[in-house]
Parts: sequence; structure tokens; C-alpha cells
Amino acid sequence: MKQVHYYYTLCLAAMLLASAACNTSADKSTSKQTATETERKWWKEAVVYQIYPRSFKDSDGDGVGDLKGIISKLDYLKSLGVDIIWLNPIYGSPNADNGYDISDYQSIMKEFGTMDDFDALLKGMHERKIKLVMDLVVNHCSDEHEWFKQSRSSRTNPYRDYFHWWPAEKGKPAFRPGSFEVDGSAWRFDSLTNAYYLHYFSYKQPDLNWENPKLREEIYSMMRSWFDKGVDGFRMDVIPFIGKDTTFPVITQKDLDEKYEGRWDVYFASSPQLHTYLHEMNEKVTSKYDVMTLAEGAGTTQKTALDLVDPARKELDMSYHFDGVNLGYMKEGFKRMDPKGYHLLEFKKIYSDWDEVFATKGWGTVYLGNHDQPRMLTRWGNDAPPYDQYSSKMLTTFILSMRGTPYYYNGDELGMRNIRFDKIEDYRDIESISEYGKVKKAGGDLQQFLNDQKIGARDNGRTPFQWDNTANAGFTTGIPWLKVNPNYLQINAAAQESDPNSTLNYFRSMVQLRKKEPTLVYGKYTLLDAQNPSVYCYTRELNGRKLLVLLNFKANTATPNTGIDLSKANVLIGNYPSPSKDGQLRPYEAVILELHVL
Ligand code: GLC
Repeated sequence: MKQVHYYYTLCLAAMLLASAACNTSADKSTSKQTATETERKWWKEAVVYQIYPRSFKDSDGDGVGDLKGIISKLDYLKSLGVDIIWLNPIYGSPNADNGYDISDYQSIMKEFGTMDDFDALLKGMHERKIKLVMDLVVNHCSDEHEWFKQSRSSRTNPYRDYFHWWPAEKGKPAFRPGSFEVDGSAWRFDSLTNAYYLHYFSYKQPDLNWENPKLREEIYSMMRSWFDKGVDGFRMDVIPFIGKDTTFPVITQKDLDEKYEGRWDVYFASSPQLHTYLHEMNEKVTSKYDVMTLAEGAGTTQKTALDLVDPARKELDMSYHFDGVNLGYMKEGFKRMDPKGYHLLEFKKIYSDWDEVFATKGWGTVYLGNHDQPRMLTRWGNDAPPYDQYSSKMLTTFILSMRGTPYYYNGDELGMRNIRFDKIEDYRDIESISEYGKVKKAGGDLQQFLNDQKIGARDNGRTPFQWDNTANAGFTTGIPWLKVNPNYLQINAAAQESDPNSTLNYFRSMVQLRKKEPTLVYGKYTLLDAQNPSVYCYTRELNGRKLLVLLNFKANTATPNTGIDLSKANVLIGNYPSPSKDGQLRPYEAVILELHVL
């Protein structure tokens, strides 16, 4: 059976969907929702800013970002105007996958600091009216977690059923693909008890057995302890994968193709038990607190997404999909970009269709970058001068003018871009290193792989935050755990503070605009000029107020055909010093207009 990486399979499906889309007829109103039909919630109105703690700010010179470092930048966070900070995992971890392999859910990773530091961070955020959302990684933990140490010690250990074991006397278990392992299998043989255990990610990340009620209670009580401290929510890592058919049947390629779109991630995410567990979690934990929950919607599709976030089902609040971020990768290779780039028509179709999913109920999210993605500017814009500034601001305008809670990744406000490492030795990410191993083992083209990584590798999005033009961009006084992008001499926060036209200050203005315009949060979304190959334009409408968003995604000038008379329109924001009023857009121009509706 062909083994395929989760995100890669998602990418294929996205391409198929999108190419079907290009032939569809033009404009359509994509929402039936009116202002009164959606319930107002703080997490719908918030702008979320994601901090990758390892790369944000190092306070003690060990080359790794830490909590005290974040504390020292609280005023910067406040100055951005964002409402919620999502922190990638900061728990005890041996760091096989940078904290996504947790060995102790109740402690702080040594490199990041102590629980006292955490308490001070939370207090500092709350004093500034910023909420804190943590990462919840409970599809798997670390093989160094006490539960797993116990579990593997004997077949009769009380923790045995906290994980998925397959006794070797039953033969080899049915194939399941595992990421981050050169052999590509999600099963690892453990001679100690003559059994295989399941790990959808690396062998250092054994999958937890949610069928075991004791395990579920442990997780719920751990969640409560963080909420009792005052944490404001969780982003739930690959949460759709927690429900599994634990008989581990053989699944044929035919079944995979016919029932699960040919995608392993959809198969992993499709168990009915998933919803039993999430409903139980809601009932027993999250509904008792005023918190938000976000699913990393791995394996979910436009058909299944609402099952997670329809409020009537009482499971989660929001989910994020991969259709957008997987656009433009080819079928061959690992994250290999189509040499022609991605197609804007497909991009528009994906985001419009996802808006439609939540048109009458549920709530979506919008993002273009995070710690699993390359830099937004390189991937979706144009990082070469003179276009870099404009396209960075244009993408910011997109994220902050769509319906759905915006998730904005640290450093994107500075227009940080891919570092494009030349050699595998520069990478630290388990994904790049294991995929390199796979290509090598198969005798594939390693140079081609490295070229592809210059666009797609996750480490591009993880290089240290560029604070100023001092050594190591002011991130650390030690040796940074991952190289700093040498362009920090020009691209850094300090230089941008005083420049009113910087991408940083544009981000701040855009955040303020979203906050004072409920239309940008709740307003109906309507795509216009769907077939325009250069421009993405749409209106947002709420209670008679109508805004028009015009975004030129290309380096050529372009004219959108909106059919709207712009003579009485007011410019609310634009990324050129004198924004276009007549609809003619310069390269990467972004403008939001207030229309005078009679
Ligand atoms: C999620 C995380 C990613 C991690 C993986 C395994 O996709 O976002 O960083 O590697 O889960 O935990």
C-alpha cells in the first residue's frame, strides 16, 4: 500500500478540489448569514498571535527562547493590539519534535524556565488584557513520559492500555503510515514485551489510547489544572486523530480511495468515537470555563469540519484546515512547488468555499503561516524587493479582512522570509531530517529535495525572531539553536518601529481596523470577479454597512471588475502611500474601501 505523508495527501486533495473549481461560474454570494444569526463571542472578535517560544526571545544566553524572554517582550505584544497569544508547547519534553513530544504535562520545559516564570507570564498577559492559549498535544505523548515507561515495562502493567500495543504473536500489524520515520511505518517493535506500539508521528511520540476511560480522565484533569491557573483555551494538536478503530483492520487501497478520498489523514480523522470523546471533554471540562478551543483540523474536509464546531454538537469552537496551505505543491516529491506557482483562482475558491462551510453555523479561522509552514511572504507573496513590503502588507490585509478568527504568526509582521538553507546539516526539524533520510534510502535526488525544502521546510518559519541589528538579531547572546536569517541587519523590529510605513506598523493599523469594524468580523463575505487571475476581491457586509477588499496578488497592475461604482467610496486602509481609489491596482496593492450604500 502506498504510504503518503498526511499533509502531502491533504495537498493533493486540495489541488483536485481547486482545479475542479476553476471551471465553475463566476460570482456567488457565499453566505446566508446575517448579523443576528451568529452569536457574538470574544474568540470570534479576537486577533490571535502565535508565538513559537523556542525562537522568540532568549533571556539566559543558552540559544533557546524562553518564558522570561517572552515576559521581556510583553509590551511589544501589547503594542501589536492582538487579543490572544497562542504558545506552542512549553511542557516538559525531550524535544524530539520541539515540544510536541510531552514527557510531563504539568511541568515547564527546562530550557523554557519554571512554573513561576509561567505564572508571571500569564499574569503579565492578563494585566495587559491579553489572553493565553496553550497547545494541547494529546494524540500522543513522549516515549519518555512516565505512562509510556510503565506501559512498555510489562504486558500486565496498569498503564499498558494507555497506549496501542499489538502482540507480535498475532503477526505484523496492518500497515499504518507514520511521519518522521525513515521506514515510514507507524508501528515500532519493542522486544521488551515482544509487541509493536503505534506512533502516527516519530517513534518518540507513541499514540495515546483514548478508548481507555482512565487515560481520558487523566487528560481532563490535566486540562482543568491549566484552566484553574487561568489559561484561556487550548489549540488541540492533530485532535481528529484521537479516535481510532483499535482493531486496526487491514484497509485496502480501494477502500481508502473510495471512502476516505485516498487520504490516510482522512481515515485517521474519521472515527465516530472522536466525537464521543470531544463531546465528553466539552461536557466535563471546557464548558465549565470561559475558554476557547481550536482544533488543528488534520484530516478534516469541508464535509466533516462542522462536526467538530457546530455549536449544537457541543464539541469545539473553531478548527483550521490545510486546503489553503497545501495549495501549489505537486504530486511528486515532498512539498515540491509547481514551477508555475500556485493559482490564484484556486486560492480564491478554497477560501470562499471554506467561508461557505461556516455560513450559517460554526466558525472558521484564517491563517497563512504557522510553525508547520514556511514563511507566509515567501510562500504566498513575493519576497524580492521592491515587492516584498507591498506583498507582505497585502497578505496581512487578507488575513485580517476575512471572516473567521485570524491567526497571525510571529515574525510575519516584520515580513520575515524563508532562510533557504543549502545543506541538510543546517536543519533541526525532525520532518526535514527524516524526509531526507527517506529520499536517500530510496536513492532519490537529494539536491532536488534540498531545493524543495528551500520553499516548503518548516524550519523556514522557525528561525529566530529578528528584534534588532545587533548580533543574532538580538534574539540571544549565545549560539542560536537554529541559524538566524542574515537579512536581520535590514529586517528587524527596531528598524521598523520608527518607520510609519513599515510592515510592522501596517499590521498594527490593520489590527485596529478589524477591531473597530465588526463588519470585518461578522459581515457576510461575497467573492467578486472570481475569474480575475490577478486580483482577489470581495465585499463584507453587515447591517447595511458594506466594505470592499481589493487585493492584487501579482507583480503586474490589474483592474478588478467589481461592477461597483467607486466614485463615492472612502479608503479605510491601503498599502501604498496614496491608495488607489479608482480600482486600478498597482503591484501587490491592497486597499479596503468603505462603500456608500444608498
Ligand atoms: C502537529 C504540530 C506539528 C507536530 C505534529 C506532531 O501537526 O503542529 O508541529 O510536528 O502535530 O505532534
